[in-house]
Amino acid sequence: MSDPILVVRGGRRLEGEVTLQGAKNAALPLMAASLLFTSPVVLEGVPRVEDIRTMEQLLRDLGAEVTWKNAHTVHIHAAHLRDNRAPYEIIRRMRASIYVLAPLLARLGEAWVSYPGGCAIGPRPIDFHLQGLEALGARIQVSHGEIHAEVQAFQGGTFTFPRKSVGATIQLLFAAAMARGAVRLSNVAREPEVRQVVDFFRSAGVRITDLGPDTLLVEAPEEGLSPPGPVQIIPDRIEAGTLLTAAAITGGQVTVHRARADHLPSVLDTFREMGCTVKEFEDRIELQAPSPENLRPFRIFTEPFPGFPTDLQPQFLALATQIPGRSVIREGIYPHRFHHAEELRRLGARVEVEDGTATVEGGTPLTGAPVEGRDLRGTAALVLAGLAADGETHVSGMEHLLRGYEAFPEKLRQLGAELEWV
Ligand code: EPU
Repeated sequence: MSDPILVVRGGRRLEGEVTLQGAKNAALPLMAASLLFTSPVVLEGVPRVEDIRTMEQLLRDLGAEVTWKNAHTVHIHAAHLRDNRAPYEIIRRMRASIYVLAPLLARLGEAWVSYPGGCAIGPRPIDFHLQGLEALGARIQVSHGEIHAEVQAFQGGTFTFPRKSVGATIQLLFAAAMARGAVRLSNVAREPEVRQVVDFFRSAGVRITDLGPDTLLVEAPEEGLSPPGPVQIIPDRIEAGTLLTAAAITGGQVTVHRARADHLPSVLDTFREMGCTVKEFEDRIELQAPSPENLRPFRIFTEPFPGFPTDLQPQFLALATQIPGRSVIREGIYPHRFHHAEELRRLGARVEVEDGTATVEGGTPLTGAPVEGRDLRGTAALVLAGLAADGETHVSGMEHLLRGYEAFPEKLRQLGAELEWV
């Protein structure tokens, strides 16, 4: 079957209530972390998206039993691992497969993991993962596109991340939770997904102390990890931001249940600065937007948390096209993450990209056309643009969007959008 295309009929004001899925980027590392335990780990609120299915397949290939107890609760039992390889077929589908490296090393002493290449959002090296694991005692060689790593046991030590990295921080937490001796990690990433991994290991008996805003001291229990109770995956802050942006681009009003304001500080600030009304509650966020022609243009710079997230940059770029005046969006994480800008131009957007910065002259009408997404968030941005465009926008590349959003068209439809699959 050819990949599905989503037809978006623009011009509807979105209004209503939706509920968030669990965060894909928190569920993926916790699934990999389950490999560190010989008793079952239970994760609740796991989104049923393609990346989760890919991780599920990888864990099964390695020998774990993966059982869904209901739509969003998964039991992972890694009593016996039978393989220590993450092959290219899996890594090329999903870079987060690299998360199995430290768990395989800790459990089996040796691992072979294909070296991830670049992807649609630009180069994404993994040098910090490898340097960090070496600092804790692993021996690593890369040849023929494959990482071969060995370790007798991870040792205590220190590692300072050259820059903040979500993935490398999590990888090192895995190793540190199994290390013989204290591990001091400096310049760690502080995203809510990293925090969930920290909390997970705390509940498994690991002592993790904050030595300052960006430094963690990790002390593994001598008796080994104890199985944590069921873990509820945190709500998906990127899905929250995407749905709020969908409301804003149509001058709508939306209540996003489960959304946490403390996970979206700079995003909510930006909505307020442009003229939206945002109300924060413990269990939801409400946003009310005037028609975009009455919003103010904005400037954002994507940065590690609590800065503005790169995973919402494409969606905000789509929004900027509808706000009169000049908005400026600087990518501080992935300077090449702008494929969506070219596609938005096909719809009539005026946007220039230079040196990792997009300048949008907004307020131009968008007219529906075929467009193609190449990556997860960029494709979401094209759907949002379609909501504001006159006529029909045919979005292909939807398989990218389905890697990370569960029932996304259905949720938009629930808010009054007109969309259909062809
Ligand atoms: N970096 C290095 N070397 C490394 C690791 C990172 O130079 O060894 C650089 C990267 O090139 C980038 C920066 O450090 O410039 C930060 O990258 P990070 O490691 O934080 O990214 P990641 O862990 O590979 C996760 C998310 C991404 C999200 C980024 C940034 C998961 C599975 N992926 O990737 O999510 O964009 O953090 O927040 O958690 C998405 O969901 O669409 C997505 C791409």
